[in-house]
Amino acid sequence: MSDAAAKDPLVIRQLEFIGGMAAPGGWRPDASLPEIAFAGRSNVGKSSLINSLLRRKKFARVSNTPGRTREINFFRVNDRFVLVDLPGYGYARISKAQRAEWRPLIEGYLRSSPQLRGIVQLLDVRHDPTNDDLQMLEFLAELEVPTIVVLTKTDKLTGTEIPKRTREVAGRIGVEADQMIPYSVEKDQEAARYDLAEAIVGLLEQPAWRET
Ligand code: GTP
Ligand code: MG
Repeated sequence: MSDAAAKDPLVIRQLEFIGGMAAPGGWRPDASLPEIAFAGRSNVGKSSLINSLLRRKKFARVSNTPGRTREINFFRVNDRFVLVDLPGYGYARISKAQRAEWRPLIEGYLRSSPQLRGIVQLLDVRHDPTNDDLQMLEFLAELEVPTIVVLTKTDKLTGTEIPKRTREVAGRIGVEADQMIPYSVEKDQEAARYDLAEAIVGLLEQPAWRET
């Protein structure tokens, strides 16, 4: 059980934007620190979740205009690990060609990151995973990269709907419901943040999974 009053597993002491990767095979920071990457559909609440985790109001941009983040952004946290914000996929109101761009960029990153420790995959608690979500999850399973699933925007549901939807989504993607972290950045975020921070620290303590 999480205990929001317990010691914060991830106190943020230092935070720095270190750059963006714009194209497959393009610039990326030296892979010297462990990396944790955040993935999810455009508008799922990725920037909001990162801000909540980092306890910053506007560190990662929050947009009402989905599909904006086209690059992979790298942030150094506490000189201990690198948080990687992957571009949101699946945004409908852009061209088909633009919509297909995420795949090579994200796949290229995942394949060329020897220090990657794990992925935080976001899904909107209200909706069934889209085809893009399922493709992404399938790809992560293929790579066998450890994956934490966060269900976002739980404040849009009632208290009894949340566990029900969590089980439904878990069933769709074939993971245990207790392996998912329901999250709202609007309501009671401390307990969920604790669970997420603890899960991330757990991944950071593992060796890079490619070496195991
Ligand atoms: P892109 O970068 O544009 O792909 O989107 P994103 O996945 O980073 O989502 P972002 O954090 O910008 O949030 C999208 C919208 O959802 C914003 O209007 C947020 O305020 C809203 N939102 C995010 N998280 C929550 C949440 O937990 N609850 C509620 N009610 N709204 C949320
Ligand atoms: Mg964003």
